[in-house]
Amino acid sequence: MPKNVTHPKSPAAFVRPLVRGLHAYTPGEQPKIRGLIKLNTNENPYPPSPKVLKCVRDAVDDRLRLYPDPTAEPLRWALATLHNCTPENIIVGNGSDELLALAVRTFVEPARESLPENLPSSTSQKKGSRQPRDSKNRVQFFAPSYSLYPVLAESHGALPHPVPLADNFTIPTIAQLKRSGLWDFRAALSLITTPNAPSGRGYTTDELNVLCNAQKGITILDEAYVDFAQENALELPFRHSHVLVSRTFSKAYSLCFQRVGYFIAHPELISALHRMRDSYNVNGLGQIAAVATLADLPYYRQNFSKIRGSRQRLSDALTDFGWSVLPSETNFILTRPTGPTAREWLEALRSHRILVRWFATAGLEGFLRITVGTDAEVDRLLKAIRTLIRTQKRH
Ligand SMILES: Cc1ncc(COP(=O)(O)O)c(C=O)c1O
Repeated sequence: MPKNVTHPKSPAAFVRPLVRGLHAYTPGEQPKIRGLIKLNTNENPYPPSPKVLKCVRDAVDDRLRLYPDPTAEPLRWALATLHNCTPENIIVGNGSDELLALAVRTFVEPARESLPENLPSSTSQKKGSRQPRDSKNRVQFFAPSYSLYPVLAESHGALPHPVPLADNFTIPTIAQLKRSGLWDFRAALSLITTPNAPSGRGYTTDELNVLCNAQKGITILDEAYVDFAQENALELPFRHSHVLVSRTFSKAYSLCFQRVGYFIAHPELISALHRMRDSYNVNGLGQIAAVATLADLPYYRQNFSKIRGSRQRLSDALTDFGWSVLPSETNFILTRPTGPTAREWLEALRSHRILVRWFATAGLEGFLRITVGTDAEVDRLLKAIRTLIRTQKRH
């Protein structure tokens, strides 16, 4: 390595204090071990439709030297047709993660350059106070939910504001939220994962509507897993001008690799987000893959029903082992194993070349989150658990 020309400042001193103290989001492992069964990142076990693969292959030509459509126009038209709205109601992003980050930057005022270390932002709210001073700086979400939300808030210098879910990961009622004084109805941005991750719990449109009604700030319903659920809340952005729905092609439509997500909301909100995004934020092959996906929805609907069937079989079998399994409306389940700790189960399954997810988060340490795989993968998982239980009994 060539010797650095020395500068009086250390490289770290150039980095903003806020960024120096930032904890990055921890994505699930993506190891390249042959024969591994990957049930840790909620990817779809089935490939994209053959028609989608053909469209992507056919697009790999001279076009690659050109910039893609800057507003993903054909895709927004196809989505508008599907959802019975106009392209002005839709923005497409480089995965829904990009749009969630854009929403934080668009709707939330940064609070200060850096938060005092280890100080949870929620401590700044007085219990029972009706108009917390820093609502305009708050990114509010239920805990547990998608662990990216606090990272997005912190990287913007906003205040992450987690509020515990009720028992069994249900959303507290408005009366309970008011009584506890923890929930800030005026928070600049509230993010609701529905169905919830990592619990898999689904919420009804009615209860989400009641919550949206009570909200004074922007509210995003993050429906990343909604295609595996019984209900969706797509009507709510059309009833409430402060509500957005977030969707992704990653999970249900087997396109994690291509990074395509979208928001649906009032045109004024969408137009504000457009002003904040990069000019060519969605890659061309991703746009082509997503348009082709929408042209072959029956293929995907078959997959949803296969996954729901495998989810039931997996849940029943784990329950027979004595494990408790939360009801799921997603393509994963949250389960509390018996015997060894959840962390030990994670390691034991890994030794059988099966990857599941464990969170070192308060309230979740006793659980494993398992993505629903193909029936063959579910069989391999159950066989491994059965073998491990037998070995544990012998010792
Ligand atoms: C709740 C939730 N929202 C959003 C995302 C991001 O999805 P995308 O791949 O569209 O960025 C995920 C990914 O794991 C998720 O779990």
